[in-house]
Amino acid sequence: MKKITIQEMPKHVGETVKMGAWLANKRSSGKIAFLQLRDGTGFVQGVVVKAEVSEEMFATAKGLHQETSLYVVGEVTEDTRSAFGYELQVKEIQVISESTDYPITPKEHGTEFLMDHRHLWLRSKKQHAKMKVRNELIRATYEFFNDNGFVKMDPPILTASAPEGTSELFHTKYFDEDAFLSQSGQLYAEASAMALGKVFSFGPTFRAEKSKTRRHLIEFWMIEPEMAFVEHDESLEVQEQFVSHIIQSALKNCKLELEILGRDISKLEKVKAPFPRISYDDAIEFLHKEGFDDIKWGDDFGSPHETAIANHYDLPVFITCYPTGIKPFYMQPHPDRDDVVLCADLIAPEGYGEIIGGSERIWDYDLLKQRIEEHGLDQEAYNWYLDLRKYGSVPHSGFGLGLERTVSWVTGADHVRETIPFPRLLNRIYP
Ligand code: 4AD
Ligand code: MG
Repeated sequence: MKKITIQEMPKHVGETVKMGAWLANKRSSGKIAFLQLRDGTGFVQGVVVKAEVSEEMFATAKGLHQETSLYVVGEVTEDTRSAFGYELQVKEIQVISESTDYPITPKEHGTEFLMDHRHLWLRSKKQHAKMKVRNELIRATYEFFNDNGFVKMDPPILTASAPEGTSELFHTKYFDEDAFLSQSGQLYAEASAMALGKVFSFGPTFRAEKSKTRRHLIEFWMIEPEMAFVEHDESLEVQEQFVSHIIQSALKNCKLELEILGRDISKLEKVKAPFPRISYDDAIEFLHKEGFDDIKWGDDFGSPHETAIANHYDLPVFITCYPTGIKPFYMQPHPDRDDVVLCADLIAPEGYGEIIGGSERIWDYDLLKQRIEEHGLDQEAYNWYLDLRKYGSVPHSGFGLGLERTVSWVTGADHVRETIPFPRLLNRIYP
């Protein structure tokens, strides 16, 4: 008999098949038992009719506990009432391994309890759907960059440099030397772009940030493209094409997951390039008109500010040319002004906040050296980075997209902790 997965059921209607599964939930009466089965590829209802199986089999079905693992044999049928569209008419059940007193029951649990049981919580239908969407965004990311001539490069995790400022570094020892966990692969991506033209990195990054918000993780995954001979405006075009591609891919390939999550997709459907752009100067003026008296030119935006700006548009919006003082040392100054830099943050709609930070990079040796000094960085650690400006320097730009914030936006998650399998949060490293 053919062993299939739930995902493969549509191709086997009318056939009797075998499947490995866990019991997610169960409902039964004297004559019929409805088994909610899951196998990792999906969720399906298995129907056990007393009159059609042995008495012993029916008793087994009725006595199954949540998360018991099974082999089931049954006939695949269509079922127009369920979102999945198929059902299994169960003929045989073989228990592989019992599960007793599974801690996560169908009733409501508090967040802390669920986070303590994250290793099990991942099995739940909505958590499963979020991981599938995350996977689709990852798949579509590779597709986009591979189709557009980018080469994947892998920056080191253990580093001696601090691209995004020294206050949020995870310190560690590297034998006798001091080292940090990477905050961003950008500086290494820049070196790689000078070797390979257009590159992207995709890996874990670490911020020892004492932020306890719904948008901050201590360990998160970032996609960081870097492009030689590409200037600020051209980089924004790549960004909007990239974001459109991954959103449209998720809409196309994760229909069922988004339905399970109850996501209103009408706003996501509109996400197609080009995206609007507003300068930092105009954004400040806009906020003043909206009654935000607390913010003045030179301040960074908080999430209420970002949300107010985002709510003004249907699409993600680029806020461009921030004041030099609130941005990292490597950003290229504006050609006509020395108080702002050629950068942009991309703000997602619906209050999901900044998903991309990017800029053109300083490519003049003396200016970069000066900035490293002004930021109090140890030049020794950056000599290799300065070398890139010594041997055939070129204009280049890049950006970083935070995967978890993007998954939050697409899935409608109200906290990034549900968008990564095992979140590292302030005060949480278990499980
Ligand atoms: O704006 P950030 O700090 O930019 C950089 O690290 C640049 N070096 C990227 C580059 O140009 N190559 O971070 C980029 C993105 C943010 O827009 C956000 O989506 C995400 O990374 N991010 C976080 N996500 C979750 N938790 C955190 N603590 C995050 N910090 C940044
Ligand atoms: Mg940023």
